Amino acid sequence: MPSLRWKTKALAIALFGLSFSMSLAASLSNFDRITQLPGQPQVGFQHYSGYVTVDEKKQRALFYYFVEAELDPSSKPLVLWLNGGPGCSSFGVGALSENGPFRPNGEVLVRNEYSWNREANMLYLETPIGVGFSYSTVSSSYEAVNDKITARDNLVFLNRWFRKFPQYRNRSLFITGESYAGHYIPQLAELMVQFNKKEKLFNLKGMALGNPVLEFVTDFNSRAEFFWSHGLISDSTYKVFTSTCNYSRYVSEYYRGSLSPICSRVMNLVTRETSRFVDKYDVTLDVCIPSVLSQSSVLNPQQVTETIDVCVEDETVNYLNRRDVQNALHARLVGLNRWLVCSNILDYELLDLEIPTIPIVGRLIKAGIPVLVYSGDQDSVIPLTGSRTLVHGLAEELGLNTTVPYRVWFAGMQVGGWTQVYGNMLSFSTIRGASHEAPFSQPERSLVLFKAFLEGRPLPEAF
Ligand SMILES: *[C@@H]1O[C@H](CO)[C@@H](O)[C@H](O)[C@H]1NC(C)=O
Ligand SMILES: *[C@@H]1O[C@H](CO)[C@@H](O)[C@H](O)[C@H]1NC(C)=O
Ligand SMILES: *[C@@H]1O[C@H](CO)[C@@H](O)[C@H](O)[C@H]1NC(C)=O
Repeated sequence: MPSLRWKTKALAIALFGLSFSMSLAASLSNFDRITQLPGQPQVGFQHYSGYVTVDEKKQRALFYYFVEAELDPSSKPLVLWLNGGPGCSSFGVGALSENGPFRPNGEVLVRNEYSWNREANMLYLETPIGVGFSYSTVSSSYEAVNDKITARDNLVFLNRWFRKFPQYRNRSLFITGESYAGHYIPQLAELMVQFNKKEKLFNLKGMALGNPVLEFVTDFNSRAEFFWSHGLISDSTYKVFTSTCNYSRYVSEYYRGSLSPICSRVMNLVTRETSRFVDKYDVTLDVCIPSVLSQSSVLNPQQVTETIDVCVEDETVNYLNRRDVQNALHARLVGLNRWLVCSNILDYELLDLEIPTIPIVGRLIKAGIPVLVYSGDQDSVIPLTGSRTLVHGLAEELGLNTTVPYRVWFAGMQVGGWTQVYGNMLSFSTIRGASHEAPFSQPERSLVLFKAFLEGRPLPEAF
């Protein structure tokens, strides 16, 4: 069934490519061109946003934000960025608080000096359906969404996005993202590799996975040690959290609606000790107090620190819910009152969390696609230790020897983190002092890492 769909699609695209004049295509992307976002500083690059329909019957459409490289976009690669969740927005989180060119600040947008569009043309996709401005007019489309549906929609999206932007069709393509995108990215890349066997469309050059879920048991059970070694839980709680009921067991039971009293007791203990006033995505970062105390998104500017705005999520929610902003973005809210950071209408098949994607990563490496797994080292949600173990294990399984031994790397005359490379194909790096959303809390170090990744080079060994 799926292969038949793709065959039809491939044919349609081949015809499209032949008969479609460049000027018509250019006018398609012109339609999505952003003149100026409210409060936006003047910039020398173009940006675009709008919809790509992935299913005409159910009127399912995915929303994207595309920002061209600051300088010489025609010589720079195309990079797709995906946030996780499942159900969180790549535009609101990825572009507006991590590695995009602007960050909301009150009524205006301010430049991010370390935007990834200094190195690449960045495409942010709100996926799956039901996330951010992406919608379906048939509400049952939000039910039982799973990894398979998401991967297929993402593939169809890209395929059709190339109709709007034909000049990017054969461009070097990288897929990047974080967290649950540890599922989305390998699953999408595998579909691309399959698609390319029929028609070489995707010039896929690599994947970068930030604090990714790759194998749920290893990833989730590294949390206990992280909490304990950072002083978030006591010795005795660590003991029960690693013997009586570990975190993977708790999550498994919870998602199946069969939480045992013993796991419930252990988690209560853990939650009490760790406290809701510590950001689990960065145990050293301050929390956004208005956000923690209430679910309201009323801003309290006094809580904003000089260097990192821990309330940026609230600012994004306020900004993207302005009608003038939505108009400028060619966005609409369909069946929703508000744009949200993470969807509350999407009903995702959460047990897909348990599907290991590390074997897919292995197959992609065998198919010649380089992979970087990087970790913000202050994240307790998907801690570096689990990712490092998984990467090391995969290297052994694939027979990839160490080509860069575990060592520090540098950014701005300081240690940016640690790295190890296997067989010049599989890399692991930490980003020192970074959160789960690494480019948010360590933008400069993240940009150094991103540049080296795109160039296929090991991280700087000296300064
Ligand atoms: C795509 O790019 C490659 C180089 O990366 C080039 O060899 C090939 O001819 C290009 N294909 C098309 C259809 O432009
Ligand atoms: C976690 O608990 C499950 C179920 O009790 C067990 O199978 C697994 O080995 C445990 N993993 C770790 C790392 O403790
Ligand atoms: C990896 O190292 C082992 C042991 O030194 C060696 O036998 C093997 O040939 C190496 N593999 C590659 C691909 O270089």
